[in-house]
Amino acid sequence: MGSMMESKLTPEQHALLKTVLVAQTESLGVLEIPVVEEILRKHHCRRVLDIGCGEGSFLLRLARRRGDAHFVGVDHSELAIADAVRQLGEGSLPNVDFRTAFFDPSFERAKYDVVLTRYTLQHCSEPRAFVGGVFDRLEPGGAFVAVESLDAYTDCHEHDPLWERFRTSIAAIHERVGSNPMPHPVSLDTELG
Ligand SMILES: C[S@@+](CC[C@H](N)C(=O)[O-])C[C@H]1O[C@@H](n2cnc3c(N)ncnc32)[C@H](O)[C@@H]1O
Repeated sequence: MGSMMESKLTPEQHALLKTVLVAQTESLGVLEIPVVEEILRKHHCRRVLDIGCGEGSFLLRLARRRGDAHFVGVDHSELAIADAVRQLGEGSLPNVDFRTAFFDPSFERAKYDVVLTRYTLQHCSEPRAFVGGVFDRLEPGGAFVAVESLDAYTDCHEHDPLWERFRTSIAAIHERVGSNPMPHPVSLDTELG
């Protein structure tokens, strides 16, 4: 059985998820984009596939900074891709294409210098097959970049009221959407050694 992110969301669930994704791009994205950009630079990257691009805000930010590379964003949610295409129309970026598609080992056979997933692999019900499919689509010397959030799992952030509010809001939205419950944070010292 697929995970919730691999199933069709209702328009209401999609609208809630979109709120989270845009907030994640505007907050965590500030830290993640320079790291991803550096990997693209190191791999002299010309072609990037973003699997599970959602409403596109993260990919579009990246693409605006890397006009020399071509980006393909795929998501199996038609609602998410419609939002992504709408944003693309406003910004007119010639180096980005968005398509509706479900990624699994039978996905189209084109090759990429970098395959990116951001907060998508964690929702994958068949992670081994998914990662195998990714490697089959990499050019020799290409890179798989999986951006995942560890903060909620490790509780490693500094305690401050703004962060607590952010995490409480995200947890409430996940609950309303019907997503899996947020994991109870573990202490880095005691549980991860
Ligand atoms: C948590 S969202 C992350 C969206 C985006 N990457 C971001 O960082 O804002 C996960 C997205 O992956 C999509 N998704 C999950 N599994 C997928 C698959 N196998 N193929 C295509 N899209 C997938 C979902 O529809 C959802 O839009």
